[in-house]
Amino acid sequence: MINKNHISILIADDEEDIRDVLEIALEDIGYTVFLAENGEKAFEIFKLEQPDIVITDIKMPVMDGIELLRQVKRANSETEVLMITGHGDMDLTIRSLKNEAADFITKPVNVDILEIAIEKAVEKIIARQQLSEYTQKLELLILEKSKLADHLSSLGVMIGTISHNIKGLLTNLDGGLYLARSGLKKKDNKTIEEGLGLLEQAVDRIKKMIMDVLLYSKERTLNKTVIDTKTFIEKIKKIIELKLKGTNILFKCKESNSCQTLYADEEFIMAALINILDNAIDACLADTKKENHEIGFEILRTGDNRVICIHDNGCGMDSQTKEKIFNLFFSSKSTKGTGFGLYISNSIIKQHGGSIQVNSIKGKETNFKIFLPEDV
Ligand SMILES: Nc1ncnc2c1ncn2[C@@H]1O[C@H](COP(=O)(O)OP(=O)(O)O)[C@@H](O)[C@H]1O
Ligand SMILES: [Mg+2]
Repeated sequence: MINKNHISILIADDEEDIRDVLEIALEDIGYTVFLAENGEKAFEIFKLEQPDIVITDIKMPVMDGIELLRQVKRANSETEVLMITGHGDMDLTIRSLKNEAADFITKPVNVDILEIAIEKAVEKIIARQQLSEYTQKLELLILEKSKLADHLSSLGVMIGTISHNIKGLLTNLDGGLYLARSGLKKKDNKTIEEGLGLLEQAVDRIKKMIMDVLLYSKERTLNKTVIDTKTFIEKIKKIIELKLKGTNILFKCKESNSCQTLYADEEFIMAALINILDNAIDACLADTKKENHEIGFEILRTGDNRVICIHDNGCGMDSQTKEKIFNLFFSSKSTKGTGFGLYISNSIIKQHGGSIQVNSIKGKETNFKIFLPEDV
């Protein structure tokens, strides 16, 4: 907000006495004052100092007050320009009006009248400033409101998707329980195993769904630390190999010699990568054409980037699917998918200042490359 003491005034007059009197009077009130003896000098100072108000005599040598008014208004239309007019300057006064002069002071200049004219100009400047502040605040409020509306509507879709998924999972839980019970009754271990398998699957999916929802709703301030890649890869290997139990999918982790550390929020990066790896597993399971499936994982260093490569020779995807994979709720897996995974991975990587690149050939393979900037 403009304070009267921060207002600067440029005075252009060819009469030294007038300049001196006005300078003393206006500085006394608290304004910052600049002086010039003609229009040309005045405009040079104007460009340099950007004063809020210009007070100019009309008749001056080199460049007159009307020309100065025009140039000032062209450079900054919000500058208030007060014209000092003499007797018989009617024509010039009218021309000044046309060029949006704020006010006119007649010669000889009465300091009290000038003070009132300046105060009026200051009020105009303050009002304009307030208006622009209010407009900015209003724009922000509108933006917040539309963000809130977006959030609420995605929350609605989220609750819908989750309810739908839970309904599907209940069928698995019921089925699992039924098999386990009847296996117990008949003392048939195979049926019990089958039932427990279904239960395990359902529990896994509920766990994953809840983790995704938690990540989605969490206020995301990163807690970055230096991560030792070797230990990090070991952790990932453990998690993935547990998920791959009972499948024919091979998990190939390459030791990374070139990249010994990562600087990231470990919990978030882990979640982002596991989501991508989960999809790789799903893609291998969905592919019925190939006999042997494998998922590759590697952390490299190229120039200033860390690159995490995740490869699978699963079902792949067409270019239309590829375009949508990072959209919230996009899933091609009907009841088995939530469409949360890659949306979350992508926002986590972006928050780290990185990016994700995807290449895929339908029926053949998919490659994810996660680029993380080197922070340390
Ligand atoms: N490795 C992959 N191979 C083939 N398709 C993939 C792969 N990764 C992701 N996708 C596609 O991206 C979609 C979105 O993934 P994601 O956001 O994790 O949701 P969800 O796994 O719940 O479907 C998947 O449904 C699938 O169509
Ligand atoms: Mg997924």
